Amino acid sequence: MSNLSFHDPVLLSETIETLVTDREGIYVDGTLGGGGHTAGILKELEKNGQIYGIDQDPEALEQVRTQGEKDPRLHLVMGNFGFMDIILPPELEGQVSGILLDLGVSSHQIDEASRGFSFREDGPLDMRMGAMTGITAETVINQYSQEELTNLIYTYGEERHSRRIASAIVGNRPLHTTKELRDVIGSVVHGPHAIKSVARVFQAIRIEVNRELEMLEKGLNAGRKFLKENGRFAVISYHSLEDRLVKHFFRTGNIQGNLKKDFFGNPITDMELLNRKVITASPEEVERNPRARSARMRVGIKKTTDSA
Ligand SMILES: C[S@@+](CC[C@H](N)C(=O)[O-])C[C@H]1O[C@@H](n2cnc3c(N)ncnc32)[C@H](O)[C@@H]1O
Repeated sequence: MSNLSFHDPVLLSETIETLVTDREGIYVDGTLGGGGHTAGILKELEKNGQIYGIDQDPEALEQVRTQGEKDPRLHLVMGNFGFMDIILPPELEGQVSGILLDLGVSSHQIDEASRGFSFREDGPLDMRMGAMTGITAETVINQYSQEELTNLIYTYGEERHSRRIASAIVGNRPLHTTKELRDVIGSVVHGPHAIKSVARVFQAIRIEVNRELEMLEKGLNAGRKFLKENGRFAVISYHSLEDRLVKHFFRTGNIQGNLKKDFFGNPITDMELLNRKVITASPEEVERNPRARSARMRVGIKKTTDSA
């Protein structure tokens, strides 16, 4: 597994420290990507430990398959972590010691212009992470109403010029390439921070195309079934909406953050937040890997109760 690193894994030592509690345990990496975290976890495991590496991007799996040394402890699974309960072997239910989700796109996906994630390179408006079905960025850009675009750029992109940008997109349709989209945004947002607006719009469209929040909710709910008692669930997110949803889920067992209580006032949930404080990257890591700047890791523990 030594050459698996076309993506510099974020919060690697923190992930391993909190997630790997049993060197002979079974682990799930729901976002295999370049295999950086998986390789780190494998290094910690004894020879009868196991890890299931899931990715919805066939290219990521292929890369890990061809770059990695054959390791019988690693099982590669193609699919969306939101459907973990369908794509993982059912006998793993209640047996898993730790699950990791390192959300978003990999640097490999961003670097490949033809995938349409990069606003620095010209490529088709695609942005699909997974099996090549479903809507593309082109559909969102050219078919959504101005109001839908405004809302999605504001909510998923946290972009304050959302109204102006959506109006410019609609006024210049049809758009087919990432450069065209970038130019349209640049025509209404100026100044030194314009590139940040471009990044935020691209992020918003990507979240919509891949239904990232919906899949995260599904993945959290599916993942909890696989955890054994005291098993840990680590999620690294890069967006405040994701982070809030994860925090709520680990605190209360649902993404809305509604803590249900029994007649005696005891919380009814099978999850518990391990650290009250969110885990973020050290200044050294941010210096080395700018992507780590916005990373926020939360860890949940599966409790003994079966009352959730
Ligand atoms: C940030 S990268 C993970 C990098 C990885 N931790 C590493 O160290 O190399 C995210 C990866 O997760 C995949 N991914 C994102 N959402 C997914 C989902 N819902 N289901 C399966 N894979 C997903 C992406 O295709 C991408 O390869």
